[in-house]
Amino acid sequence: MDTTMTTPLTQQPAWQALLQQRQALESQSLRQAFADDPDRAERYQVQAAELLLDYSKNRIDDATLAHLFDLARGAQLEQQRDAMFRGDIINRTEGRAVLHTALRNSRQDTLQAEGANVIPEINQTLAKMKAFVEEVHSGQRTGYTGKAFTDVIAIGIGGSFLGPKVATEALRPYAKSLRLHYVANVDGTSLVEKLKKVDPETTLVLMSSKSFTTQETLANTESARDWFLQSGASQQDVAAHFVAVSSNVPAAVEFGISADNIFPMWDWVGGRYSLWSAIGLPIALAVGFDHFEQLLRGAEAMDSHFLEAPLEQNMPVIMGMLSLWYSNFFDAQSQVILTYDHYLRGLPAYIQQLDMESNGKSVDDAGNPVAHSTGPVIWGGEGTNGQHAYHQLLHQGTAIIPADFILPLSSHNPLGRHHNMLAANCLAQAQALMQGKNLDEAKAELAGKALSEADLDRLARHKVMPGNRPSNTLVMEQLTPATLGALIALYEHRTFVQGALWNINSFDQWGVELGKVLGNAVLAEIEAESASYAQDSSTNGLIKLLRQGSLK
Ligand code: F6P
Repeated sequence: MDTTMTTPLTQQPAWQALLQQRQALESQSLRQAFADDPDRAERYQVQAAELLLDYSKNRIDDATLAHLFDLARGAQLEQQRDAMFRGDIINRTEGRAVLHTALRNSRQDTLQAEGANVIPEINQTLAKMKAFVEEVHSGQRTGYTGKAFTDVIAIGIGGSFLGPKVATEALRPYAKSLRLHYVANVDGTSLVEKLKKVDPETTLVLMSSKSFTTQETLANTESARDWFLQSGASQQDVAAHFVAVSSNVPAAVEFGISADNIFPMWDWVGGRYSLWSAIGLPIALAVGFDHFEQLLRGAEAMDSHFLEAPLEQNMPVIMGMLSLWYSNFFDAQSQVILTYDHYLRGLPAYIQQLDMESNGKSVDDAGNPVAHSTGPVIWGGEGTNGQHAYHQLLHQGTAIIPADFILPLSSHNPLGRHHNMLAANCLAQAQALMQGKNLDEAKAELAGKALSEADLDRLARHKVMPGNRPSNTLVMEQLTPATLGALIALYEHRTFVQGALWNINSFDQWGVELGKVLGNAVLAEIEAESASYAQDSSTNGLIKLLRQGSLK
């Protein structure tokens, strides 16, 4: 089925209606909307896969939502979603299916993609991962001197790094005794600092690269191998310590990894959507295969919800459409993810790659320039730390920055009143963004101070907070493998919803290519016996400094 849009998005009647809606909401006060409607929070709330989304603090009313869902239907969102789950070639610039959802699909025995049934190979790989993890944990699989493994150096970058790292951090309460150390950057400092902490005899090196061509990952793995060999191990011992995950199995073998130690993945899994595949092996090593499976089941629960719930009650659709609402109709150029759980401190960086590498595009599926803005800048951090840093701009800056607050109801580390304080801060920040503080309130606060009328007025103006700043609040009972899986799948699908509406390809990343090509040319110049200085004058000047190693 051709699921490409017939009428361009900006020419859809719903788009035009939303433009008017935006005007109508200009005078809306969220504070007033809550005062007028005691049921607002209940009406704008949805639950799925053990997550609850409260989206009542958004610049919306029923009419806005109706138009947003009309826009989604006009863009054939449901058909596009079904095409992805079905294994159609929706990544048309690379001629690939997009089937990260198949990796966590326990309901189907058959799913044809790119001419083959993918389910048996997924299950075989999961079984191989399970056996490997259990052998390492039980001590059945040891290092070359017979000692049990104590540490894993996990090497990879981008999607072959962020998902495993963030999940390992998030699931720390479920950790087994193996210590995981992640290395991504080609900056040697990253690897050297990690290697200082480990013993080659008890260290497994797990290299993850879908393409097996990524410069950083190859360089780090080669240097890790040198370190291993320099410690007294022989070339033969490499087989016991080096493991790879890749869709390019021949290249991994060529590199010297034993065929038994290669875990496959496939072209139909995008790097930033790959933690559910063997790319998630470090997660399973960190927390056990059973917990990795629970992570998959949580994501699967969100997949079922995304597939089955009507758009009006569909959490990823609601979040995706709200995100689009602010990007396209409020000129919101960034969005902030605020996690109120220390274990989720890495999640903003994960969602940043997921969303920005997916939706940072400016041509549509046919290659024509888009007529509207696309992916916003995604950033964020953990609460409460951000409250003493960038929240000032969220409250009083000139830009509207929609926020997602993420909060588990209970902590894995109940310590006195800490969790209540954390949660209170989370709720209060969202409330302050929504309510703001008007001039009369600011003046009332200053009443009684020994200030002249003019000084009181001037100072009060600095204390005014505009309010009407939108936010979502996502809560879960506890951060578990299942709720983490659901949360990550939620953001994957939110990203998909926006890409589908914008009619862009969320699954390629051509923009990273030019930098890689130029990087190789610059590297050749830096390392050449005599440089040709064939670049622009700025790059040439900097190359010269690097070759000299001095500013003189
Ligand atoms: O940065 C581009 C990118 O291709 C990402 O999409 C990907 O996750 C990352 O590099 C790593 O790629 P690979 O797993 O092939 O080493």
